[in-house]
Amino acid sequence: MKFALSLGILLICEFAITSGKDENKTFHATNEWQEINDGQGVPAGLHIRINLQTGKKEAKLLSDEEDEAKDHHRNEGALTNVGGNVYGTNLKETTNNNLENSNTLSPESLKKIKENFKTYNELKESYKELQQKFQTDAELITGLIAEYKNLSREERDHSLSLQEKIKVQLRILEDLDYLVHQIDNALWFIDMGGLEQIILPLVVNETNINLRVKAVRVLGALTHNNPKAQIKAFEKNVGSHLAQILLSSTNTEELSSALYAFGSLLRKFPLALQRILSTSGTQALIAVLEKECELKVKAKSLTLISDVIVEKKLVLSNYADSDNPLAAAQYAELNLAEWLKSNAFCETVDVLVSSKLYELLDQPDLVEYFITGLESSIEICQSVWSKNPQLRHTLLTIKNRYMYVQDEFRLEIAQQIERLIKDLYNSINHEEL
Ligand SMILES: *[C@@H]1O[C@H](CO)[C@@H](O)[C@H](O)[C@H]1NC(C)=O
Ligand SMILES: *[C@@H]1O[C@H](CO)[C@@H](O)[C@H](O)[C@H]1NC(C)=O
Ligand SMILES: *[C@@H]1O[C@H](CO)[C@@H](O)[C@H](O)[C@H]1NC(C)=O
Repeated sequence: MKFALSLGILLICEFAITSGKDENKTFHATNEWQEINDGQGVPAGLHIRINLQTGKKEAKLLSDEEDEAKDHHRNEGALTNVGGNVYGTNLKETTNNNLENSNTLSPESLKKIKENFKTYNELKESYKELQQKFQTDAELITGLIAEYKNLSREERDHSLSLQEKIKVQLRILEDLDYLVHQIDNALWFIDMGGLEQIILPLVVNETNINLRVKAVRVLGALTHNNPKAQIKAFEKNVGSHLAQILLSSTNTEELSSALYAFGSLLRKFPLALQRILSTSGTQALIAVLEKECELKVKAKSLTLISDVIVEKKLVLSNYADSDNPLAAAQYAELNLAEWLKSNAFCETVDVLVSSKLYELLDQPDLVEYFITGLESSIEICQSVWSKNPQLRHTLLTIKNRYMYVQDEFRLEIAQQIERLIKDLYNSINHEEL
């Protein structure tokens, strides 16, 4: 479980790299991770990490709480990553190899990174105990779960305020989000009870929206391209919890992360598709198309529906040479057309696209999602859509607007719309087009 691929080091940097007086060269930190360019000076007191794959350094601001934190507890939290990812047995060597093999580094920045490693080595000295505690990602995850569980007790003991507790919870979730992208890590986290003890209670019952959103995102990371984790999450009824969020929320962040998690759970998992989309799942996805929320969230929802339709088509079209006839049979039983129709999918998309014309004109990237979604569901919805002059008017307006601009992206979309219009209306009203 070595962390060879990804981001390696996370620590609180107490030192500054100052090079040059040029104001231009100073790194301007924000709350997001940003790459530090060669020769940029970095102010003291930032989170710094090194992407072991690219060899590039990244930095972001400490949160207020971390900034003020001088007590051991929080420093320990920040350093567990160092212990886990960098200072396991032989890890110093691994790290150096990675750095030397990397051809993205100038000698100058390599030197700088090596200087930094002296500092890491000093940290290493002072946190020997932690290194022994966290040799692997698995131990790191176990530690994070234990730390999380401790929080409730500390809150009960009044050694931690609710605000402080939430901040630590968010930090733990962020670390987990990053760790569980790896398949083995995700399975370990689930085996250690992380899903039931941390994620589900937050997803289902938490009132703080930041915590809820973060937990849903971890859920998405856990199940993304991870069939075993998908099965375990499915068994815990995660699908209907996510459907519930999609039905009730109007928050962009929350809807986006729920759609991400929903897609991760369902993709390439015909049993879950069958169970979840035949019940509340389809309704939930279509509800997103109808509710008051940002158009980009609606585009995501339509894209997920469209992906499932395409996935089914692909599996069935490969049926003959499929090495998994059972899966093909399962896909054959997905009655997507019926589920979508009984939830007024075609009418909803029709109204949505027709009524959002002017918003869409300015956002060709969203238009592309919508047109692709329309294309994938044309067989299901043709009888509804082809009868509506308003939809055709909208499509033609966007097409005409995009057809005559010096912008290849818009031009491509115009051509895509042209094909769609042909498919939709050709058999009905050939001449009018
Ligand atoms: C940054 O550098 C460029 C070119 O070297 C210069 O034109 C610009 O004014 C500088 N900006 C600042 C904020 O110093
Ligand atoms: C949990 O709390 C106990 C007692 O306060 C402490 O000894 C232990 O180190 C804590 N564990 C973690 C992982 O924070
Ligand atoms: C949510 O809260 C209810 C009521 O307190 C509880 O019965 C249920 O087990 C909780 N759900 C989860 C997943 O923690």
